[in-house]
Amino acid sequence: MSWQLLLWLLVLCALLAVVVQLVRFLRADGDLTLLWAEWQGRRPEWELTDMVVWVTGASSGIGEELAYQLSKLGVSLVLSARRVQELERVKRRCLENGNLKEKDILVLPLDLTDRSSHEVATKAVLQEFGKIDILVNNGGRSQRSLFVDTSLDVYKELIELNYLGTVSLTKCVLPHMIERKQGKIVTVNSFLGIVSAPLCSGYCASKHALRGFFNSLRTELTAYPGIIVSNICPGPVQSNIVNNALKEEVTKIVGNGGDQSHKMATSRCVRLMLISMANDLKEVWIADQPFLLMAYLWQYMPTWAWWITNKVGKKRIENFKSGVARSSMDVSVGNDMLLQKSNNRDLSTYEMARTDANQR
Ligand SMILES: NC(=O)c1ccc[n+]([C@@H]2O[C@H](COP(=O)([O-])OP(=O)(O)OC[C@H]3O[C@@H](n4cnc5c(N)ncnc54)[C@H](OP(=O)(O)O)[C@@H]3O)[C@@H](O)[C@H]2O)c1
Repeated sequence: MSWQLLLWLLVLCALLAVVVQLVRFLRADGDLTLLWAEWQGRRPEWELTDMVVWVTGASSGIGEELAYQLSKLGVSLVLSARRVQELERVKRRCLENGNLKEKDILVLPLDLTDRSSHEVATKAVLQEFGKIDILVNNGGRSQRSLFVDTSLDVYKELIELNYLGTVSLTKCVLPHMIERKQGKIVTVNSFLGIVSAPLCSGYCASKHALRGFFNSLRTELTAYPGIIVSNICPGPVQSNIVNNALKEEVTKIVGNGGDQSHKMATSRCVRLMLISMANDLKEVWIADQPFLLMAYLWQYMPTWAWWITNKVGKKRIENFKSGVARSSMDVSVGNDMLLQKSNNRDLSTYEMARTDANQR
């Protein structure tokens, strides 16, 4: 074989490798480190058994699904949120479908905005199980309104809940982890903790604050390598987040999340979260395309990211004003069309969510 032919073969192989990687990236639903960990890393089934895991926001959406998947791994679970009935429902399903017994699950009602109750709640968990291996800071709320139309109370509420509530609970749990020199603090942040989008400036602010806080805390804990601080940043995932999103006033919620079929399945998001926990990843991005690509652009090519965000954001505000789009991350025109179709369909969901909100 001549050296020229060999060279051509090498070039062809390199091109093929690039194409394969490109196709893999286009099909990816998580950042490349996370997907590598899924392929080659430690399994949640080996790493997370026998742990005590405290999940906030366990009454719905991502937290609820996390409870179900954790219950199959044989962990001891603490389920927290405000709605006790919903937590009891989640507990029952964990017992029916998981590997846990009654004594392995503690339902612990908790309001993240009631910071004075966090110390007592932490003591209750320690009294019940003797340790906390993983704290999953998941409870939170989104927003769907333009800054100029929105009361400052909405901003206060989002910071109180998403940011200060999470920081407060972490402050109560961390001394225990420091004492044991081990533990995992896993915070469900958001794609909107990395990038920014219109109609959710308060939510973005709270999630950016959380990311800054936990990145800084991690640097303060370098003397404790057994304590892992993890930021999970999902893109759009099926849940009640849009239903419960605040509008211009704290008393108003979106109510109707509309069709969610275009969003990532909750089970897939949670599986990737568990892989992240098992492999002690510091930050993971969990999103289908084109959201994943946007996260990479924001990280590595911010000028391009701004250009695209401004174009799409303008369209999004137009759609919002004409009453089409709902989710803070459904930024593509295609998604907006999907949402428009579902606009008329889900009035009953809207009413149910409003009743639910009024009952709280
Ligand atoms: N779904 C997405 O597209 C997406 C994307 C990125 C990030 N996230 C993040 O994922 C997390 C979970 O949201 P989700 O999507 O699963 O939404 P969800 O279905 O609305 O669940 C939110 C959970 O937070 C709890 N919560 C709300 N206010 C609370 C309070 N004051 N005190 C304690 N718990 C409270 C709710 O329980 P109660 O009402 O019973 O208190 C509920 O269990 C949030 O932090 C959200 O920002 C979601």
